[in-house]
Amino acid sequence: MLTKVHTGLESVPGVWWKPAHTAEKIWVSIAFAWCIVLFAMMPLWHWKGGQNPSGVRTRVNPTAFYQRTVTFATRYKVGDDRGLPIVQPPPGSDVYLVGLTFQWYPILKLQQGKEYTLHLSALDVNHGFSLYPMNVNFAVVPGFDYALRVTPTAAGDFRIVCNEFCGIGHHTMVGRVIVVDSLGQSISDNAGARIGGGGAR
Ligand code: CUA
Repeated sequence: MLTKVHTGLESVPGVWWKPAHTAEKIWVSIAFAWCIVLFAMMPLWHWKGGQNPSGVRTRVNPTAFYQRTVTFATRYKVGDDRGLPIVQPPPGSDVYLVGLTFQWYPILKLQQGKEYTLHLSALDVNHGFSLYPMNVNFAVVPGFDYALRVTPTAAGDFRIVCNEFCGIGHHTMVGRVIVVDSLGQSISDNAGARIGGGGAR
């Protein structure tokens, strides 16, 4: 004997077809309106959020980018800090910074209030550029050149922290950006901080 099965052609027992309660209608309306607001926020935030890179992105060969950075560092080197060149490019110029396991190369010395085009890329794996304590963050991806137009607004001795886990030495990957004012001073309360020390300090 055939067992009675529900086919979908007959209505199931219950009261689901009765009109929804007013409270339910209100909540569904609120939820729907909120969905629309959040949906609209996506394009709105893209234009108004101010968190998008101001530069252009181009594909680049990671090794070629590294070579470009070394050439740049050699050309504008003004000193060094534990083997890493301190590089002071002229205002308005193209500045190169490369992330590699496990360092940021080179150390940049920039002038406050001057615009630079900062080329950011990685040699090996993804790294995260995080300017401390300014809260400026960018993903640094091998094969892509982020040409960011940047104007340092504050003088100081800043650190670049890697905020993307990139391997065993990730926590030691700390770089340095020095910003000097018109008098050539980098007023800072963290000038005593050292790079590359990590947990071993
Ligand atoms: Cu580079 Cu984490």
